[in-house]
Amino acid sequence: MHFFEYKNKELYCEDVKISDIANDVKTPFYLYSHATLERHFRAFNDAFNGIDHITCFSMKSNSSMAILRLFANAGGGVDIVSGGELYRALKAGVNPEKIVYSGVGKKAEEMEYALNTGILMFNTESPQEIDRLNEVAGRLNKKARIAIRVNPDVDPQTHPYISTGLKENKFGIDINIACDEYLRASRMQNLEVTGVSCHIGSQLTKVSPFVDALKKLKELIRRLTDSGMDIKYLDLGGGLGITYNDEKPPLPSEYALALKETIGDMNLTLILEPGRVLVGNAGILVAKVLYTKTNQEKNFTVVDAAMNDLARPSLYGSYHGIRAVKMDSENIISMDIVGPICESGDFLAKNREIPALKQGDLIAVMSAGAYGFSMSSSYNSRPRAAEIMVKGNTYYTVRERETYEDLIRGEKIPEFLK
Ligand code: LLP
Repeated sequence: MHFFEYKNKELYCEDVKISDIANDVKTPFYLYSHATLERHFRAFNDAFNGIDHITCFSMKSNSSMAILRLFANAGGGVDIVSGGELYRALKAGVNPEKIVYSGVGKKAEEMEYALNTGILMFNTESPQEIDRLNEVAGRLNKKARIAIRVNPDVDPQTHPYISTGLKENKFGIDINIACDEYLRASRMQNLEVTGVSCHIGSQLTKVSPFVDALKKLKELIRRLTDSGMDIKYLDLGGGLGITYNDEKPPLPSEYALALKETIGDMNLTLILEPGRVLVGNAGILVAKVLYTKTNQEKNFTVVDAAMNDLARPSLYGSYHGIRAVKMDSENIISMDIVGPICESGDFLAKNREIPALKQGDLIAVMSAGAYGFSMSSSYNSRPRAAEIMVKGNTYYTVRERETYEDLIRGEKIPEFLK
């Protein structure tokens, strides 16, 4: 459910005409609906009521400070994967006690930053990382709270690039050896073993892989508790899918119910790291048609957004709905929607049957709120797009479009070339 709807054949975000925003801020831009974000957060977070839990938004999916603040105001924390994300989260006002730190390659200086900040927990992913964290915490005279991210070896049945919980994936520590690693960590002076974590993949459209992983984790927690460890947190990662086209993922309420039932009476605080499900359908990318052209084979619509703005179609062949911002044509044709970048892989949609578009028309690339702007780059020296948030009948620029000066910030031509 989201607030991007047509009224009189004009696409609106909440109560604002998208074409009005485009006239003002120019294209391309990302557009987020405040009401949708808030609704998604509440639907997800409230679904876990009745059990101690923290919803730690996975900010790699969208690291806009405005969105982080919105979720923080609603009581959320964040899941981070780098020092840069920690910096952003703190600047946005996220409570450090609700920050969990995941990722296979944390650097010593990032660990130090997070320890000095007092984050809730490190989700560690290898024996060497555990050693390093113990060392860094010792140097700072602190105790690092840790979970071990275990790899439960369940198949999330999603795109291979975004499944993470299989033996063949680089993530976590094999669940069969996790127990020994927990024992080793629990004997370290500067670590406090406090949780168990996992994340099995992204864009999951079934509940069963989550339940299978949870069952395995429950068994592990039992063994750890029997060995005298005090496991307070169970972090189940993110991964709940959304509808891009015709997928039918479970509702947050169905997902939560299945997890709550499986957890039963375990006395733990549950941590969830949703990304896509909170923001994916709360954002769109708006672009303008530059040119249309046709060869014997195909119709091409060249727009002013490209793979540098939204990488998902090129990277994963992902489907994103395309809508005309003004529905003024009934003539349905098949077309490729492509960007200006000099690569054949630069497309936003292929062989899409939609009403014919003409020069100057605006399009909305749907479901672009997750892994959209956050994966964007300035490839081809294209300044990154503006980000706008609508609340009711007003819109706010939450990130300015980059300028040409931004593009060369920090660059230096060495003396010997002058
Ligand atoms: N927790 C961890 C440890 C993760 O690695 C991820 C995502 C999440 C939570 C959030 O997953 P979500 O709820 O958003 O599914 N760029 C890809 C997705 C990569 C996902 C990486 N990890 C895409 O555009 O589909």
